[in-house]
Amino acid sequence: MSKRKPAKAGTKTRRINAVALVLSVIALVIVAFLAGRQYFATGGPEQQAADSPAPAIGGPFTLVDQNGKTVTDADFRGRYMLIYFGYTFCPDVCPTALTRNSDALDLMGKAADKIVPIFITVDPERDTAENMKEYAGFFHPRLLALTGTPEQVAAAAKAYRVYYAKVQEKGADADDYLMDHTSITYLMGPDGKFLSHFGHDVSPERMAERLTKIVGGAGG
Ligand code: NI
Repeated sequence: MSKRKPAKAGTKTRRINAVALVLSVIALVIVAFLAGRQYFATGGPEQQAADSPAPAIGGPFTLVDQNGKTVTDADFRGRYMLIYFGYTFCPDVCPTALTRNSDALDLMGKAADKIVPIFITVDPERDTAENMKEYAGFFHPRLLALTGTPEQVAAAAKAYRVYYAKVQEKGADADDYLMDHTSITYLMGPDGKFLSHFGHDVSPERMAERLTKIVGGAGG
């Protein structure tokens, strides 16, 4: 306890102000300390840059459609792209996925008009434009089937992070092989950016439901 005489009113107010000032300074020091600790915990600007999200799926491509016309990703701005990578000689996986995608679009009715279904081959050696034209016709009247030079196809697959590799038995003919490949369908937005993806096991009904939710109903 203080043995001093009671302070005068003015002194008391000054003392309260002084206490408030000291508390403010302490609070500032704590805030600065915490901010500094946070800064160094994340390693400063360099570390933060390294932690930024991985590059998005999708990107520029230049390919050739089933009518021999060169197309690029920029041709589809303003519309949604539903993209699947595969190859026409695929015995099972590709036909299943392309059928599912077509069924989903059919289930959507008019809303599907906003979506361009696209099939990109990972087997440009055998998938000529003529080949692709016949194949696309089996699945959907609007299916755009794209091929290109091996380099063009490689660039497109890389942009979409699609894995593919030739699987050939020893002693087989040069054109007798299978392609191992990723089986994922990508939905890209009107700005060309990645929106969603559909695994191989998603049903046509579920896919139609999810697509409609994203692109909205008919019109719009
Ligand atoms: Ni396939």
